[in-house]
Amino acid sequence: MDPANYSAFETLRGGRRVEIRALRPDDRAGLSAAVARSSSESLYRRFFSIKRSFTESEIEYFLNVDFVDHVALVAVVEEDGRPAIAGGARYIVEQPGMAEIAFAVVDEYQGQGLGAALMRHLAAIAVSAGLKTFVAEVLPDNVPMLKVFEKSGFPRTVKHEFQAVHVSLELR
Ligand SMILES: CC(C)(COP(=O)(O)OP(=O)(O)OC[C@H]1O[C@@H](n2cnc3c(N)ncnc32)[C@H](O)[C@@H]1OP(=O)(O)O)[C@@H](O)C(=O)NCCC(=O)NCCS
Repeated sequence: MDPANYSAFETLRGGRRVEIRALRPDDRAGLSAAVARSSSESLYRRFFSIKRSFTESEIEYFLNVDFVDHVALVAVVEEDGRPAIAGGARYIVEQPGMAEIAFAVVDEYQGQGLGAALMRHLAAIAVSAGLKTFVAEVLPDNVPMLKVFEKSGFPRTVKHEFQAVHVSLELR
């Protein structure tokens, strides 16, 4: 598997087709558009602060993905004949065999199975790269994210820490 050229198609609940593919350097405008149309609550849940603007070095960090220690996928839908980013997921290797994951789905596409689909594809890449564990920090009231982890079927450990839930998924 070549994560940098990853591409797969899924059908969301409701019938919409979505391409789940590797993030590309030319996705900068698409990512900005996705952030711009995300609610404050979604941004808070993703970044633990209401973040609407990013510094140049933060943007570089999100876009310059090496597909080894940092793998990012985007979900692309067609809106009025044009591609639009409806969500994304990434993992960043923290130590050998273990990566931290983070997800974001644009509000109007939430609850249609996209988070679960991103999880499946990200996990498939991680497994083929030999990773053993995904970890995530989630706000305690973030039921949709916790549900996506539960639905993934991977054995998981959930630790309630100060102001966050630490989830660990055993990939297999
Ligand atoms: C978390 C997130 C990525 C999930 O994506 P999604 O596309 O909505 O996920 P799915 O549709 O695959 O699944 C969400 C599940 O949560 C459920 N859910 C949503 N709100 C819920 C609630 N209040 N109570 C119970 N279940 C709820 C949905 O019904 C769905 O379960 P189902 O498939 O059994 O019906 C998305 O909601 C999001 O981007 N949130 C904001 C950013 C964020 O929280 N990022 C996580 C930081 S790591």
